Amino acid sequence: MTITADEVAVPARRTGVRIEARNVRRAYGRKTAVRDVSFVLGAGERVGIVGESGSGKSTMAKIVTGLERPSDGTVTVDGQDLASLMATRAGQLEYRRRVQLVAQDTTSTFDPRHRIRESLRVPAQILGGHDRAGADQAVGQITAELGIDPSWVDRYPGELSGGQRQRMSIARALIVRPDLLVCDEAVSALDVSVQGVVLNLLKRYSEDHGAGLMFVSHGLPATAFVTRELVVMNGGEVVESGRTLEVLEHPKHPYTQKLVDAHQAVEEDAAS
Ligand SMILES: Nc1ncnc2c1ncn2[C@@H]1O[C@H](COP(=O)(O)OP(=O)(O)O)[C@@H](O)[C@H]1O
Ligand SMILES: [Mg+2]
Repeated sequence: MTITADEVAVPARRTGVRIEARNVRRAYGRKTAVRDVSFVLGAGERVGIVGESGSGKSTMAKIVTGLERPSDGTVTVDGQDLASLMATRAGQLEYRRRVQLVAQDTTSTFDPRHRIRESLRVPAQILGGHDRAGADQAVGQITAELGIDPSWVDRYPGELSGGQRQRMSIARALIVRPDLLVCDEAVSALDVSVQGVVLNLLKRYSEDHGAGLMFVSHGLPATAFVTRELVVMNGGEVVESGRTLEVLEHPKHPYTQKLVDAHQAVEEDAAS
């Protein structure tokens, strides 16, 4: 019996992208947002970045997605320097195709002059490789997966609530089918029940496509649910990192312990 190439051919499967941040510092004028931050985001790995407000999480999310450049230190993508990749238009497009950001501030994600449908269709065509009809189909599919009311896509961004816009912004990132999704407080404006739907979807997307997830959040339960690795930041520095459950169950650093305690106090309050 002969086996033809068709029979053994494995369907094209996306692979995650490996990102390494080494000794990254970022200053805004005199203000140092992050200093000496190093971590590895393994290909297809799901990594949480937690810490209080002001600890430098969003700055790292922007640096990893190439929106901001480090003042010092390097970020490499599958071993290649991110700054040199972003130096060409082709490199930028390729990186946008592979790595998508769900920004903390969703007001800047959508052009107020366009209906949401347009803001989803364009990246589906330019980055996702769909033709016009395929893009429309992809819009229908991704919004359905996220439990979005189909009529919302015909609205303008200003006509949506913060939570609705947040879900749309996740749809806009996922429609590209990225190898790495960077979520910056991407579920913070959602009701708990909707959060569950979205978190399940993010996890499933990562598992089904071998895609990585960088999940930036100040919510420990959500982060524990979707990630396997955790990086704890405080005052612009990494204070602890490791397997998510290990770090949360046996915190080594006093700051991590404080975060865990603060969360438990809130839970007990809610329960009483
Ligand atoms: N564009 C900016 N200009 C000046 N300071 C900034 C800017 N972006 C962030 N910072 C400062 O850097 C620190 C870290 O901010 P950020 O990365 O947004 O933290 P987080 O997302 O953890 O809340 C904060 O003190 C913040 O005020
Ligand atoms: Mg932030």
